[in-house]
Amino acid sequence: MKLGIPKATNPLERRVATTPSVIKKLHKLGFTVFVEQGAGVRSNISDQAYIDIGAHIVESPQALWDEAEIILSVRPPETRPDGTNELDLFTDKHTLVTMVRPATNEELVTQLKAKDITLIALDCVPRITRAQKMDVLSSMANIAGYRAVVEAANSYGGFFSGQMTAAGKSPPAKVLVIGAGVAGLAAIGAARGLGAVVRAFDVRAAAGEQVMSMGAEFLQVDIDESGDGGGGYAKTMSKEFIDAEMALFREQAKEVDVVITTALIPGKPAPKLWLKDMLEIMKDGSVVVDLAAEMGGNCEGCVANEVVQVSGVHIIGYTDLASRMSTVASEFFATNLFHLLDEFGGAEGWEVDLDNEVIRGCTVLNKGEMLWPPPRKAPPPKPPVEATPAPEPEVKAAEKQEGGYQLWLGLVLAVIFAVIGMNAPSDFVEQFSIFVLSCFIGWQVIWNVSHSLHTPLMAVTNAISGIIIVGGMLQLGGFDDGHTVAAVLGALAILFASINIAGGFLVTQRMLKMFRKG
Ligand code: NAI
Repeated sequence: MKLGIPKATNPLERRVATTPSVIKKLHKLGFTVFVEQGAGVRSNISDQAYIDIGAHIVESPQALWDEAEIILSVRPPETRPDGTNELDLFTDKHTLVTMVRPATNEELVTQLKAKDITLIALDCVPRITRAQKMDVLSSMANIAGYRAVVEAANSYGGFFSGQMTAAGKSPPAKVLVIGAGVAGLAAIGAARGLGAVVRAFDVRAAAGEQVMSMGAEFLQVDIDESGDGGGGYAKTMSKEFIDAEMALFREQAKEVDVVITTALIPGKPAPKLWLKDMLEIMKDGSVVVDLAAEMGGNCEGCVANEVVQVSGVHIIGYTDLASRMSTVASEFFATNLFHLLDEFGGAEGWEVDLDNEVIRGCTVLNKGEMLWPPPRKAPPPKPPVEATPAPEPEVKAAEKQEGGYQLWLGLVLAVIFAVIGMNAPSDFVEQFSIFVLSCFIGWQVIWNVSHSLHTPLMAVTNAISGIIIVGGMLQLGGFDDGHTVAAVLGALAILFASINIAGGFLVTQRMLKMFRKG
């Protein structure tokens, strides 16, 4: 099967759909790759680099479409500066894999449907764990979030980190991130990395923990309403909630120097969240980066692809933030695409398997047949109402059952201990009692330690291993006085405890390294 990689001619597009390092892997999937001359230049990939890896360079778009069956493109078909309309090049042999946004791009889908092609929308890959490696939206949003901070820092007239110098001091910049999805979290990470004080707001409560884990403050309003629309996306909020959110933002506008807005509700125009009056409240020279500019913008006054100044505030509305980091963006894009092509079975096993959740989600057209939107997954069937026990008795029943097991276990253990107590030598009984008690205490203590603390806890167990080593050394005397078994067990105890100590130090060292900067 032949893949075709066209050259993007939109002046805002610097990315290319595949890179030499990924082509190597595509060859292993059985694909032959044709690249249009100059396609990688704006991502710093020369034609020669493609040739060196075994790809074929073709000179014209017509030649590319003639050769390839699958067209991989970063943007939907467009009219080129020389007047060539890419739409005209498609025939029914083609599969197009690109960003489509079928909800807002109906005309394009209709035009492609008329060509009887298969259309795969990268932006419709479902946001499920298994599909993360194919999720172009996430990988590009991650880059865009980072770049938004770089652009903000470029326009902002001050330091992001606090400075104390002989020439004066400058407090750290205060950054507010609105919408803590993929792009928002990346922006938080980048702004924190530059030393700014970062706050974030999101309608999804689940975002709070992620925001805090990145060292930012999570702002909240006093209204109990869930913004979770499923799949990590938001839903439209009530007017009451939005009013409370606006009041919160007005308060923040007095303090923050940089605002990065990323709020998005899938398939809808971006909600207007940073209003003119907030821009007026902000200090002169402050910066707003509106990532949602392409979907209409979160900030009033934002102009897509431009930097404008409103009430002394710079509003950055670039829609090509990921493309501004084209080297890494092309690499990530290409890797996502490789995984998607692999999901389709590679060149040998290529199949539009509509039973596959990922493939079903992103297939908009299958040989001209309209398949979008995909059917909503039926919710799991609810048990009949009369059969549903009231929650309280259910818990009690579970407790009762658990209590029953515990009783039986207790009885069995009591019998075992009684038998040991009656038959074993008193020395053994003494040691055994200590062993059982220490197991019980250890279990009770460790059980209540939160999972995140298990690794540091492991370092503490080194102390216990130390005691084991001393015990083992005392037993080694058994080699001289005939207690060989005890001595061998002692030696084994020393060996395992030493492994535990060395391993504990190694893991702790690695953990500390993760927290060390530079
Ligand atoms: P996402 O869906 O992961 O994140 C959006 C977040 O906004 C969600 O967490 C959602 O809960 C939140 N949100 C929705 N309504 C809100 C409200 N009223 N108040 C506060 N938070 C709200 O989306 P992702 O992937 O992070 O993308 C974010 C934005 O960046 C999108 O608008 C996307 O189109 C845009 N984008 C822009 C690029 C550019 O170059 N400008 C490049 C890539 C993405």
